[in-house]
Amino acid sequence: MLVFVPPHPLIKHWVSVLRNEQTPCPIFKNAMAELGRLLMYEASRDWLPTITGEIQSPMGVASVEFVDPREPIAIVPILRAGLALAEHASSILPATKTYHLGISRDEETLQPTVYLNKLPEKFPEGSRVFIVDPMLATGGTVVAALELIKDRGISAVAAPPALKKLSEKFPGLHVYAGILDPTVNEKGFIIPGLGDAGDRSFG
Ligand code: PRP
Repeated sequence: MLVFVPPHPLIKHWVSVLRNEQTPCPIFKNAMAELGRLLMYEASRDWLPTITGEIQSPMGVASVEFVDPREPIAIVPILRAGLALAEHASSILPATKTYHLGISRDEETLQPTVYLNKLPEKFPEGSRVFIVDPMLATGGTVVAALELIKDRGISAVAAPPALKKLSEKFPGLHVYAGILDPTVNEKGFIIPGLGDAGDRSFG
């Protein structure tokens, strides 16, 4: 499994805004969306097929290269907090479809329950699927999502229990994270983490 933390000052900046307990809800949500835009830029770097051709500019003929609109790209935000991380991540990709997946983690047992599944019966042939969830803590939620779809994920913060579980179950997976944190406490919160990203994004 590949875990990539892009070494970019803007990624460090937005993770730091998210970490700050003083950051109010609308600013937290906006910071999550900006981080998602940057992580999607990195996660899609070597993974999008392009088509080349020529186009008429106002000053002459120019060679051009576009992301191939015939190749299906899917974004799967894991509700709720994944909605904030996916906001700009979906708009920077041309011709993307979004498929919502609602998963909540029991506060006592930490077991995930899927309460909304808008995944298609089958993704179109050759689809590139991005799973978007800001926090990989114990890993139960993202593993439940990946058992429904196997592909590539972006997250704001990832912790060792989640990465261990993912590398055992999905060795071919690529994870793009804003930062890696050292541990998860007995209540399943990433330390130092961001707190509860769903509550901090949506109140
Ligand atoms: C949080 C978070 C992840 C999950 C991570 O969601 O957004 O989806 O927990 O934990 P895990 O790796 O230990 O499974 P939560 O269930 O709090 O839902 P929310 O986004 O609606 O707040």
